[in-house]
Amino acid sequence: MLHTRVCDVFGIQIPIVNAPMAIAAGGELAAAVSGAGGLGLIGAMRHDAHWLQAQIRMVRERTDRPFGVGFVTHWLPDTPELYETALEERVPVIMHSFVDPAPYMPAAKKAGAKVICQVQTVEGAVKAAQAQVDAIVAQGTQAGGHTGLVSTMTLVPAVVRAVSPLPVIAAGGIADGRTMAATLALGAQGALIGTAFLASPESGYTPNQKRRILHMNSSDTVLTRVFEIARGDEWPDDIAGRADRNAFVDRWHGREEQLRSRLQEAAEALAAAIVDDDVSTAPVWAGTGVGLVNDTGSAGDIVRRIASEAERDLRDFQV
Ligand SMILES: Cc1cc2nc3c(=O)[nH]c(=O)nc-3n(C[C@H](O)[C@H](O)[C@H](O)COP(=O)(O)O)c2cc1C
Repeated sequence: MLHTRVCDVFGIQIPIVNAPMAIAAGGELAAAVSGAGGLGLIGAMRHDAHWLQAQIRMVRERTDRPFGVGFVTHWLPDTPELYETALEERVPVIMHSFVDPAPYMPAAKKAGAKVICQVQTVEGAVKAAQAQVDAIVAQGTQAGGHTGLVSTMTLVPAVVRAVSPLPVIAAGGIADGRTMAATLALGAQGALIGTAFLASPESGYTPNQKRRILHMNSSDTVLTRVFEIARGDEWPDDIAGRADRNAFVDRWHGREEQLRSRLQEAAEALAAAIVDDDVSTAPVWAGTGVGLVNDTGSAGDIVRRIASEAERDLRDFQV
């Protein structure tokens, strides 16, 4: 059985963590991943505190294993009640993404939570290490959803070198046993996986989003800002969103100034498509690993399969 320091730090059996994906990772997915021996994370940012409390309690009803809640931390100042809810509910693990976690550390430690921070650069990793987090996720540009510009292949070993002996978890493009084995060879102590869970029954993706995930190839994703611009939600320059290159992307990607000048029309089209589950316009966030995802097994089966295939691939590896 694959066993790394990440297992010891978080009290889990398999060093696989599901990404705290807004909309796609609620209590159902987190409970399934934790129940299978990984670390299940709830993505907190797209709903209110009542929803978050209900998801946390659902996980506790389904499993007594460790789990956590993940925050897009640059939005947190607008919604402090979400963070307070997670701490009041005494979740065992908190994850931050996209900013320095230092201001949040004292409260998390007081509540007895372990803290993970997801970073996109070596500089971000060093800051998170100085803040005394328990593990760092090095997120490469292959990741689905919002991500940075550096490849997983080069970011992971650079972060491992910079923050050693702190455990590093790799993210971005890990979707099967071989990609998991490769990240362990890069020095990571575990994998944080989003895209490979998106078509599972426990994912919060809509039926058409799940169908699209199963049909996409690795070359169908693009790193783009068009959805954020249309939603009036601007991110830092070195972060963009990786999503399916659908008709909305084809129309506006590379024409961002034009999009800004026709914002109302684009925003209305996007909002209507989300309601109608029309994935030719609504975003289907996915990483390049989507080309490796072609079945709809349960989230627990996905955890067990990736871990056992990685173990076999590492054992049988020859050059
Ligand atoms: C649909 C989707 C939504 C995401 N939402 C979030 C989020 O709310 N917060 C966050 O920190 N990361 C989010 N991410 C990024 C993940 O944390 C993670 O880095 C990524 O899924 C890992 O790469 P992979 O998709 O190739 O497995 C999201 C990713 C996807 C695919």
